[in-house]
Amino acid sequence: MYLLAHLSDPHLGPIPEARISELLGKRFFGMMNWIGARRRNFGAATLAPLLTDLLAQGADHIAVTGDLVNVSLPSEFDTGATFLTSLGAPDAVTVVPGNHDAYVHSALAYHLEHWAPFLSGDDTHPDTPLDRDSFPFVRRRGPVAIVGVSTAIPTAIFLASGAVGRAQLERLSRTLAELKREGLFRVVMIHHPPVGERPFHRDLRDAKAFRKVIAEAGAELVLHGHDHRASLGWIDTPGLRVPVVGVPSASAGPEDGRGAGRYNLYRISGEPGAWRCEMEARGYMAGQTDVSSRERRIIVGE
Ligand SMILES: [Fe+2]
Ligand SMILES: [Fe+2]
Repeated sequence: MYLLAHLSDPHLGPIPEARISELLGKRFFGMMNWIGARRRNFGAATLAPLLTDLLAQGADHIAVTGDLVNVSLPSEFDTGATFLTSLGAPDAVTVVPGNHDAYVHSALAYHLEHWAPFLSGDDTHPDTPLDRDSFPFVRRRGPVAIVGVSTAIPTAIFLASGAVGRAQLERLSRTLAELKREGLFRVVMIHHPPVGERPFHRDLRDAKAFRKVIAEAGAELVLHGHDHRASLGWIDTPGLRVPVVGVPSASAGPEDGRGAGRYNLYRISGEPGAWRCEMEARGYMAGQTDVSSRERRIIVGE
């Protein structure tokens, strides 16, 4: 049995002091959002017990689906790197970027520079600088292949959308087909949800094209964040239903309107053609302050 953990959207605080020039435009509104979130008990006080519970599970691998930072100030990425290191060694922790990790155009490369050990593929040479063409990257771990997709694009003020892009989608299609031939349980990590409806300004622009790639090439599990809500959707393909799982922010307090802080565990067993995956959600519940099991269900196999 392979144990995979999934958390998302910690939006680590505090936001470091910034120069006035850095806070003009989009970052100013992001800062106001963060201050508002703090008032809703969103932050380190709820994240820490959740992480303690997570680390006690002894997961083989931890997947983090983005939005580690808030307004993409340079020092926030050091905080992000410290956070990732606290979860485990880079070969046991994988991250993909969210829209907040590429919040303004000038910060587009920061996550690639600061978090490189956590978002490079097995065959990426450590001296090779990462860029958008480095995605999707692949990490093979036992029976599992982790496929990291980037939806990070520069967006205008008030936009939180993302896109995979045609070139990355073509690489993703080839990669998934190759991993199927290798007989691996394919886990695709993507920040923006590829299923469900949401307003244009928060959407994955090429969600339909992404779903088509998954439907044609196949995958066993898709993990995402961004909505800060617990969700389970499906991409249907002939003979295969691919579960698409979203998890609330790991920093959300028990009373958070979008969903109390949670992470998910996936217990993966079986073999090609007969995979089994049980999902367990662990986290807070309204009115309670302890972290415990909230839901268990089989999402792949019988
Ligand atoms: Fe987020
Ligand atoms: Fe997001």
